[in-house]
Amino acid sequence: MNNFNEWNLIELAEVGSTNDEIKKYCQQPKQKTVIRANSQTAGRGRRGRSWITKDGNLFFSLALEFPLKNLGHLVSVSALSLALSIQKLNPAADVKLKWPNDVLLNDAKVSGILLEKGEGEYIIIGIGVNIVDSPKDSELIYKSTSLAEEGISSTREDFLQIYMQIFEKNLLELKEYGFALLREKWLKLAKNIGKNIIIKQNEKEEKGVFVGIDENANLLLQNPEKIKKILVGDVFYDEK
Ligand code: BTN
Repeated sequence: MNNFNEWNLIELAEVGSTNDEIKKYCQQPKQKTVIRANSQTAGRGRRGRSWITKDGNLFFSLALEFPLKNLGHLVSVSALSLALSIQKLNPAADVKLKWPNDVLLNDAKVSGILLEKGEGEYIIIGIGVNIVDSPKDSELIYKSTSLAEEGISSTREDFLQIYMQIFEKNLLELKEYGFALLREKWLKLAKNIGKNIIIKQNEKEEKGVFVGIDENANLLLQNPEKIKKILVGDVFYDEK
């Protein structure tokens, strides 16, 4: 297995970060590339956090040309595709999406996505999926789990195959029909829609009701005065 459709797959033993590694391939015109590494020595997460390597887990990055102004669509489609990949392995799995791009399994984080800008029009999508193990660090901002810990058996290679098929299909749907239908699918899997949430941006906190995402995939937070668009932040659930 070396390629998925038009995607060029490169598999490596150890890298700093697959997001950095793939930037070397962003010069080739129109080449869609996937890099998977068995381990990362400097895996990055969102908002300056790190992403810990656990043996047997999946770490990969994709590079594709995509308009920067529609980045929110790409984030949502990437996360939706991860959730659907897990459901493909187990249709009864309790999979939820946590804005902007986390995937929860039985209420714990099983996967995360880090989008970065590459050369020119290239966007890098870095994805970590906990296949067999998950970090149990007291400093984690959200509890984590793995597919195996929740009774779903797969390998990193098989999961990547499933993901690429689903992602490619959703990407085509996005190009052909726009974001509206994919947004509906995303919302169906969103955790705590219609409920109170807390958005944290550095030291700042905002509370409100999570009423949806807009046409650009910004989060919509209703407070007593208005519906506010949230462009960045971490979501926490106000379970009271
Ligand atoms: C997050 O939830 O904070 C995003 C985590 C993204 C981790 C992946 S692992 C593959 C790719 N390489 C990195 O350094 N980060 C992403």
